[in-house]
Amino acid sequence: MRDFRQPKGRDLLDRCGGFFEWQDTRRRSGTWPFSRSTESGPNASCAVRDDRGNLFEGANFSSQDYLSLSSHPVVKAAAVEAIERMGVHSAGSPALVGNTSTSVELERRLASFLGMSYTVLFPTGWAAGFGVIKGLVRSQDYILIDALAHSCLQTGAAAATRNVVPFRHNSVDDCRAKLAKIRAKDIDAGIMIATESLFSMDSDTPDIAALQSLAREYGATLMVDVAHDLGNLGPSGTGHIGMQSMLGQVDLVMGSFSKTFASNGGFVVTNSPAVKEYLRFYSPSCTFSNALSPSQVATVTCALDIIEAPEGAVLRERLMNNVLSLREQLTRRGLGYYGDPSAIVAVASGDEGLARLTARKLPELGLLANLVEFPAVARGKARFRLQVMAGHTANEIETAAACMEAAAISATAQLENRKTKPPQALAI
Ligand SMILES: Cc1ncc(COP(=O)(O)O)c(C=O)c1O
Repeated sequence: MRDFRQPKGRDLLDRCGGFFEWQDTRRRSGTWPFSRSTESGPNASCAVRDDRGNLFEGANFSSQDYLSLSSHPVVKAAAVEAIERMGVHSAGSPALVGNTSTSVELERRLASFLGMSYTVLFPTGWAAGFGVIKGLVRSQDYILIDALAHSCLQTGAAAATRNVVPFRHNSVDDCRAKLAKIRAKDIDAGIMIATESLFSMDSDTPDIAALQSLAREYGATLMVDVAHDLGNLGPSGTGHIGMQSMLGQVDLVMGSFSKTFASNGGFVVTNSPAVKEYLRFYSPSCTFSNALSPSQVATVTCALDIIEAPEGAVLRERLMNNVLSLREQLTRRGLGYYGDPSAIVAVASGDEGLARLTARKLPELGLLANLVEFPAVARGKARFRLQVMAGHTANEIETAAACMEAAAISATAQLENRKTKPPQALAI
């Protein structure tokens, strides 16, 4: 994919052709496992159509509905009720009249859930990540960013300043060294440290408390993206921030509703009313974009009700049991995976060719799983990001492990075969 990031030629439209040709060769050989659509929404098992129109059915480990709230009857009823009462549209920016009494209440609820005071809602998590950086950081400022941080943070950083300094993934020491160097030459610049509480390609976590005290020591601001763990991990669903006893103590927390909260939308929470108001009017992806619709707000609010209730604890326990069972079964079958137990079980595949052949086999066997390859992860470190849900049955967990093993065996045999035969017309 990276080869086509800087296409050559002055015709902006014409130069898209190189990527399309490469993609289409993969599509025709069945090794393009992206842009699929479900027939039924993100259920634990579902039918999925690929972008050639082929239909597959299987256990769905490619959706991020971690607590399975998207099909929860009470959540669905809340969305329908909101549509009946308030219509389907917010029809305005939050800076004008796009908010509703329910979105204002959601802001209050979310801040309190995170032990903080104020929330700014955004149309998506991506918009929140981009917007919190672009809204606060100016060209003379610096951003220290974890080298593996999400696209929304990287793009926000690049849009805000040329002074973007990546630090080694989850390395507090490297962050400290780079922060000290910046401060030694510039005592006046603003500095934001941007990281995530749970990295979705590796299922690992930084020492948030250490990063926050580092930020305080050097007069910097810490911003943590909690998209993947908020609601589904930690005490009462407060994620790694809660697990590290940092509730209410991180300078800025941003996240997404698109995983555990069963909707689209994003947020930033802060303890400062001034920061909240500043973001609302200077973060372009908030100010100049429509507010969440009433049904999105109702979905998220109802999901939060469940997350905070005893039912949330039951769902989190079910999710973690599924995660631990999947990891155990993969180990038994000789398959490796990355990181610590979380809803993301990233099964190591390695070589891109092997991974693409494995991806081609999976849907035939009855498993829907996302392939992640370079440049989203390092070259030679391709993996299958299995996203586990509370609603997966024991049978679906077993299917996932068995299919991963069978597909890897089949792909390895195919690759061996290719070494001894003349090349086939297969783009891998
Ligand atoms: C870490 C992280 N931050 C932000 C986002 C963006 O969230 P959304 O899907 O709500 O735009 C994602 C989702 O892909 C993510 O993984």
